[in-house]
Amino acid sequence: MSKYSLKSLQALKQQQKKFACVTAYDASFAKLVAEAEIESLLVGDSLGNVIQGKKTTVPVTIAEMEYHMNCVDEGLKQLQHQPLLIADLPFMSYSHIDQALDNSARLMRAGAQMVKMEGGAWLLDTVRSLTERGINVCAHLGLTPQSVDALGGYIVQGRQQQDADKLIEDAIALEQAGAGLLVLECIPTELGRLVTEKLTIPTIGIGAGPNTDSQVLVMYDLLGMNRGKVPKFVKNYMENQSNGILGALKDYRADVAAGYFPAPEHCYE
Ligand code: KIV
Repeated sequence: MSKYSLKSLQALKQQQKKFACVTAYDASFAKLVAEAEIESLLVGDSLGNVIQGKKTTVPVTIAEMEYHMNCVDEGLKQLQHQPLLIADLPFMSYSHIDQALDNSARLMRAGAQMVKMEGGAWLLDTVRSLTERGINVCAHLGLTPQSVDALGGYIVQGRQQQDADKLIEDAIALEQAGAGLLVLECIPTELGRLVTEKLTIPTIGIGAGPNTDSQVLVMYDLLGMNRGKVPKFVKNYMENQSNGILGALKDYRADVAAGYFPAPEHCYE
């Protein structure tokens, strides 16, 4: 039986072993994630895009996140393999500390072992308050989809030196405030490498190059279900796949562990 916790994922970084993360939003997919022995599962607010068909993640509510977190948790009951369960705090559900505490409690009662929130320096007091009260926090820097309008679109972040410096500064401050994991989305490979080297907590990349400690993909992207413009960082694991969805998830996990994914064509230089 393998049961992953934040501590065991942090130990993997110390042992220089890479681990995988994938999103899931319901019991059936959660079971497949467990069967593929993937180390962590994110109930992402990307459900706004892939389940609800919205253009952005902004309309997703805490009640919807709670519902999907609960579905995933039910699916994993009594299974041998237990990935670390991370749930997104959706847009405007953590804009002040009391709200972040209340909404994190809702997600944890629904089964989350860690909550994820997007943002840098403005979140330091919130991260401190949550972790002091025993709530695991995963931070998220780079392209933060809840701020897509402020960022001017789904654009690679940290290309200018001053933006890269700010991201590194924020990453270090978030770790010092208590964040246990850090998602890095759509940043140049070199910046992904630098942040990963400077932190003792694991980084989880999506479009952040091959040097992060872990990789995450949205389940529906990994299964080739993306019908719009497919982001560069996506690999379709159903292509030439003879073992169905479980085979795709197992291949993804093996590729991440071996450092074969992401390949250069999935990265921003
Ligand atoms: O919501 C989500 O799926 C995410 C990942 C893309 C990291 O935040």
